[in-house]
Amino acid sequence: MCGIVGYIGNSDVVDILTNGLNTLKYRGYDSAGVALFDENKIKIYKAVGKLENLKAKLETVKSEIKNPSMGIGHIRWATHGKANEVNAHPHTSTSSDIVVVHNGIIENFKELREELTKKGCVFKSETDTEVVAHLVSEEYKTIGNLKDAVKKALVQLRGAYALCIMSINEPEHIVCARKNAPLIIGIGEGENVIASDIPAIISLTSNIIYLNDEEVAVVKKDSVSIEKFSGESVPLKIVKIAIETDAISKMGYKHYMLKEIHEQPSIVRNLLNGRIVDINSPIELPEIKMSKDVLQNISKIQIIACGTSLHAGQIGKYLIEDFAGVSAEVESASEYIYRKNTTDKNSLVIAISQSGETADTITAVKQAKEKGAYILVITNRPDSNITRYADSVLNVNAGIEVSVAATKSYTAQLLTLYLFAIYLAEVKGVDVSNFLEIKRELLSIPTKMEEVLTTEGDIEKKAEKLSGFKNVVYIGRGVNLSTAMEGALKLKEISYINANAYPAGELKHGPIALLDENMPVVSVLIPGHISYDKTISNCEEAKARNAKLITVTSSNDEKLNNLFDVIIRIPEVSNVLSPILAVIPFQLLAYYISNFLGKDVDQPRNLAKSVTVE
Ligand code: M6R
Repeated sequence: MCGIVGYIGNSDVVDILTNGLNTLKYRGYDSAGVALFDENKIKIYKAVGKLENLKAKLETVKSEIKNPSMGIGHIRWATHGKANEVNAHPHTSTSSDIVVVHNGIIENFKELREELTKKGCVFKSETDTEVVAHLVSEEYKTIGNLKDAVKKALVQLRGAYALCIMSINEPEHIVCARKNAPLIIGIGEGENVIASDIPAIISLTSNIIYLNDEEVAVVKKDSVSIEKFSGESVPLKIVKIAIETDAISKMGYKHYMLKEIHEQPSIVRNLLNGRIVDINSPIELPEIKMSKDVLQNISKIQIIACGTSLHAGQIGKYLIEDFAGVSAEVESASEYIYRKNTTDKNSLVIAISQSGETADTITAVKQAKEKGAYILVITNRPDSNITRYADSVLNVNAGIEVSVAATKSYTAQLLTLYLFAIYLAEVKGVDVSNFLEIKRELLSIPTKMEEVLTTEGDIEKKAEKLSGFKNVVYIGRGVNLSTAMEGALKLKEISYINANAYPAGELKHGPIALLDENMPVVSVLIPGHISYDKTISNCEEAKARNAKLITVTSSNDEKLNNLFDVIIRIPEVSNVLSPILAVIPFQLLAYYISNFLGKDVDQPRNLAKSVTVE
């Protein structure tokens, strides 16, 4: 949610800011703006809607922009106040001496706004952010130094923020700071750049500094200095990052989502590499720092996540209980944080988050840590905020995921959970030979994923037929209930079709009342498990109510042709490993329905890739 870019140097400031914002669009936004330090003035341009609208505006005012020496830019995902130009960032103080862009939420903005209004500050927007501009400006009046005024202002704030701030009186630098929201500084030669995330920086430099919570940085053209809010200076820790330019290119695909769906076999192959070297040997996960002795005695695990990561967590619970016999609970982070839970120092809490920035999941992890729990984070961004609270981190290594709809991170999370569940079982003394077949089959999964992808053309045709429905029901059982839930989530996120998932056995306890010829039922059918026959019976019940039936199945049983209107076949696979294959047709179905309906596949309305507010 929201993205920030700041730049100081001799290159084209407008280009760098807009290109940087372009790479952050995946975070979700509904307006954009820049502030340019030009001819000793701060010039601000904003536009509602797509970044292209801001670019078009900047094109029309080209003649008034001379030679900016620095600038800050922002894409906003509205939280306080509508998505309009007034509420778009950057925001200024009353005299416009201070200009600010912000990611996060200032929780005490109402009180601050009242106090500042009493002091004579004139507010223009409805945003929480604007208080920061006024506060810094007020402090500046007595302190006369931007960095110190920022520090003085920030200690009065409650909430989360990543900020870039410029002062009309200090043309040599941008001041930035953070607390509970990501911010990095890219170190170039004779230029420096600040951003919410790596994609906005990699075209300029691969040397970055991760700013920590409660640190403020003064970023000049050829130097950076950082200090804590307490005043203590912070030595610069410059990290060289591997440049993932492919990750932010569509590589010839129409959308990032389609590219990311196609990346899944190689991601899973890489994840398996080195993890299962010999199926007769136990799985090694050296990243798990918890001693094997302690792990052996673990009797309860709590899994916390949101959205797609929560669906992966539900499958994780199934695997941990099935393989290791350890009781596992799984819960949405937004529910966990507001109830009296039973986490204590004997708990192992597994937090799953693609972005590592999800506010609910981070709050849950902080709470669990305060209670003394051991925290294992499974993430695609090992450099993210959430890992600061982790005792161990498992990197799912899916590469930067740009499409708002999670796909490759999900199958990478699943694979990681398979490995972890087997690892836990083996540590707990379950005989390694119990897992020989599963390990052998895991090694064949990337090739089977490739096979599923070869049916893409067929799925595209089927998707077209399904795109006319307004409502769809997904059903699944056991390990594939979550596959059904993930299929439904994908469809509603990007096509805006109302799709709901139920345990197949629940259909007749209520949802069946919805069924008729306008409400298709989508199922997952994997033979070799009791759930297969039971789910077929549930499909029969739906057919009797005239519902069209669609199934994703690994069965070759000809009899299914009489029952189902649409059959999508996947390769033969055991029930326990099937979720990692069965989800791919659901991803493709959602993708092609959305594409057929002409929706914005990669940036669906109202959604943000990183949900940084609770
Ligand atoms: O980054 P996280 O995995 O913590 O994100 C959690 C959810 O916001 C995310 O999975 C969301 O549901 C996606 N849009 C799913 O496609």
